[in-house]
Amino acid sequence: MTRKILVTAALPYASGQIHLGNLLEQVQTDIWVRYQRLSGADCTFVCATDAHGTPTMLKAREEGTSPEEYAESCRAAHVRDFESFGIRFDNFYTTHSPENRELVERIYSRLVERGFIRTRTIQQAYDEEAGMFLPDRYVRGECPSCGAEDQYGDSCSACGATYAPSELVNPRSILSGRPPVTRESEHKFFKLGEFESLLKTWMQASNLDRGARNKLAEWFKEGLKDWDITRDEPYFGFEVPGEKGKYFYVWLDAPVGYMASFRNLCGSGEDGESRFERYFGPDSDAELYHFIGKDILYFHALFWPAVLLGAGMRTPSGVCVHGFLTVDGQKMSKSRGTFITAADYLAAGLDPEYLRYYFAAKLGPGLDDIDLQLEDFAARINSDLVGKLVNIASRCASFVQRGFDNRLGPRLHDPALYEEFVAQREQIGEHYESRSYGKAMRAIMALADRANVWINEQKPWELAKDPDRQDELQAVVTQGINLFRVLMTYIAPVLPDISSKAEAFLRSGLNWKEVDEPLLDESIAKFKPLAGRISLKTLKALVETNRGQAAAEVKHSEPIDIDEFLRTELRVAKIVKAERVAGANRLLRLTLEDGGKGRTVFAGIAGAYAPSILVGRKVVLVANLKPRKMRFGVSEGMVLAAGEGESRVFLLSPDEGAEPGMRVR
Ligand code: 2FM
Ligand code: ZN
Repeated sequence: MTRKILVTAALPYASGQIHLGNLLEQVQTDIWVRYQRLSGADCTFVCATDAHGTPTMLKAREEGTSPEEYAESCRAAHVRDFESFGIRFDNFYTTHSPENRELVERIYSRLVERGFIRTRTIQQAYDEEAGMFLPDRYVRGECPSCGAEDQYGDSCSACGATYAPSELVNPRSILSGRPPVTRESEHKFFKLGEFESLLKTWMQASNLDRGARNKLAEWFKEGLKDWDITRDEPYFGFEVPGEKGKYFYVWLDAPVGYMASFRNLCGSGEDGESRFERYFGPDSDAELYHFIGKDILYFHALFWPAVLLGAGMRTPSGVCVHGFLTVDGQKMSKSRGTFITAADYLAAGLDPEYLRYYFAAKLGPGLDDIDLQLEDFAARINSDLVGKLVNIASRCASFVQRGFDNRLGPRLHDPALYEEFVAQREQIGEHYESRSYGKAMRAIMALADRANVWINEQKPWELAKDPDRQDELQAVVTQGINLFRVLMTYIAPVLPDISSKAEAFLRSGLNWKEVDEPLLDESIAKFKPLAGRISLKTLKALVETNRGQAAAEVKHSEPIDIDEFLRTELRVAKIVKAERVAGANRLLRLTLEDGGKGRTVFAGIAGAYAPSILVGRKVVLVANLKPRKMRFGVSEGMVLAAGEGESRVFLLSPDEGAEPGMRVR
């Protein structure tokens, strides 16, 4: 029986531009879908723009448009970017759709009926000037645990502590810059805890790999807490029926958006409804897989199946989880120029198929991060794709063209070798099926190596010189072209564009099930180069351009007058002692000579400086900062440093001659 499969990739946020991280996931999903189709399954791929939430609302305001219009323009940009990278959706919809509203309301009312929703009053940060409640990330302040400045309301990037926004020291709203007040509000909560045993059963039956299961086990151990599924107005989303001014939280309606996108694809009328039922109804025999990154596993492996179970609906057959994308070993970063958008990549004139191949070569089924190394990227494209794979065709095509008027011969020179290539079909298919694309690529490239070695041994260039050996020559190059055809079929899910060019060259479709039938006695087209080399220079230039743009985008704060500035007392100080702080990896305790009686300052610079190299160094001290009590002691001021994050930190020091206590202005 034909497998019926519905596949989704995570819905990109409306407010974000598509970047290489999104592409990693979409490419991973698209390869799987293409493989399924190639091997005969009935596989449908849907996605959508994740339209709702506070960021969409605020961005739309900034641009002077409505959130609906703004989200729609984002959707168009998403579609364009994904299409450029060969991602072939059956539908790319939006979560702000009538279908989604209908489904969310249906699910919610079932949850209410069955007693899985409770009402609770919560305390939340509120910005009086902006007139709205603040999501955790919209409050920033000093970490209550280590004192690091400018931290988000949910966790500290310096010491890793997690906390509530109300615990921040000197909190302020990122919207108005003012300290938020605390206000009460009534919210609806989903009783996640009631689903623990059903979720465990679901997990056993799902396709989750070991890494994901371990993560879930941790969460079960910590205990499943109620989930807040509503937000107060102003909010861009669906209003909760019967609850004036309350909206469904974006994370409730986003996964329902998977269903809604499919519902939209099914079409209207009874036909549409019955097609939808075949996938989502109680008697469904369709498989359902969600491809996601590990950062949103909690939503997909706990909340989402629990909500479906609570509503009496089918659950996913599996969740396919990948790791993060890093570039040259580090998190993508705007200032390093490694935050590369789909549009940046295309603008640099780089071929989308190359990225698809590189991702495939690095992808496995687990949660490991994937590193895009620029040098490795260039090397793999040039050596694997161009040097090995495409080369097989180009070196044989010239003989077929010159000697045989572009006609393949009636026989292969080495049928046993051809059989060996065909024999790998099943194994390579299994690699695709299990998302072990890296293994599939290695198997294909090993065969490409064999093909090239074999051609070298046959020496067609010598056969060509001998009028008595023309049949042999034709059989040899016919074989070469056929080996190429087998390999292009195997790699077609990864390289849709190059493989369709190969089809044009072969004048024959690439068909997974028919690779055992070689192409004989047929005319082929004139060979045109299928893929060119990539230069490392182009890749580096892309990063450089991005870095330049990031620097140009630095936003400056509101102007202040000189008096305001002079209220800050800056003085030269000398570090006389620097020590690590037990329990705070990022902090150093600095003992400073300051021209007076000396003082102690805690600085979040341990990620950048070993304590020993700091002793004797002069720095700039904010001397009139109110002492701050921290978990490890009192910090009496602050030393100035340039930079960002944990390791790119640069202490400011005065020139030779400045003495401790000297005023800085
Ligand atoms: O993390 C994200 O980018 C979300 N927009 C993903 C949503 S996936 C699904 F649940 F809709
Ligand atoms: Zn901290």
